[in-house]
Amino acid sequence: MRIVLLGGPGSGKGTQASQLAAHFRVRHIGVGDLLRGFVAQSDCQSALRTRLDDGDLVDDETVFGVVWPHVLAATEDGGYVLDGYPRTLSQAETAHVAARRGYAFPDVVVYLHAPRAVLVDRLTSRTDHRSDDSIAVIAHRQSVFEHLTEPLVKFYEDRDLLVRCDATKPVDAVTADILTSIDARNRRSSVGGVGL
Ligand code: AP5
Repeated sequence: MRIVLLGGPGSGKGTQASQLAAHFRVRHIGVGDLLRGFVAQSDCQSALRTRLDDGDLVDDETVFGVVWPHVLAATEDGGYVLDGYPRTLSQAETAHVAARRGYAFPDVVVYLHAPRAVLVDRLTSRTDHRSDDSIAVIAHRQSVFEHLTEPLVKFYEDRDLLVRCDATKPVDAVTADILTSIDARNRRSSVGGVGL
């Protein structure tokens, strides 16, 4: 099973990715964690660290170089839940081509949607605060999502890959909804109704 999770900051991508990865016994690829690990490894990454701290997206080439080997390795290993990539139309186009080449094409893209106020509330009250969790940076991350990432909803809808889930429900209810949607898709696809 290969799943891409799409959603604003605080929509529960990381939380749901863990649950889904355990359910399907595939790898959880957390892109924010990979990037934080990447900048922590080297003293030469201060510009990247600043982008993360400020809530700006890292450049496409760097993020692809960090993430894609994990996608290919996980695909070889049975699948993935990819949390946080792609986040721009150009990343989505690159991923689309690379996935076809590497037989890593997602089975489904899950869009976790919730009103901005709910997401802001979650991030400001999260106990393990990150360096990008100040009120100003959270607001900026939400704007970056709305301007650069939300257009991917249409991108994947046009390719018949998207399912939408209400991310305001409790964690286990969101997981259950995602699994039900995936199951419905699989049944539809087995009778020839889903095209990529
Ligand atoms: P990343 O680490 O991915 O941060 P994010 O997208 O801002 O999302 P979060 O991790 O804050 O939230 P989440 O949606 O995972 O929710 P979570 O499960 O944690 O990325 C960080 C940075 O890396 C970016 O700003 C950018 O700089 C860079 N980056 C990443 N990807 C990139 C890319 N592709 N290109 C370029 N740059 C990139 O939950 C949040 C809180 O809510 C938790 O406390 C949780 O317990 C709670 N919660 C979760 N679900 C529920 C629920 N259903 N009900 C109640 N509470 C819930």
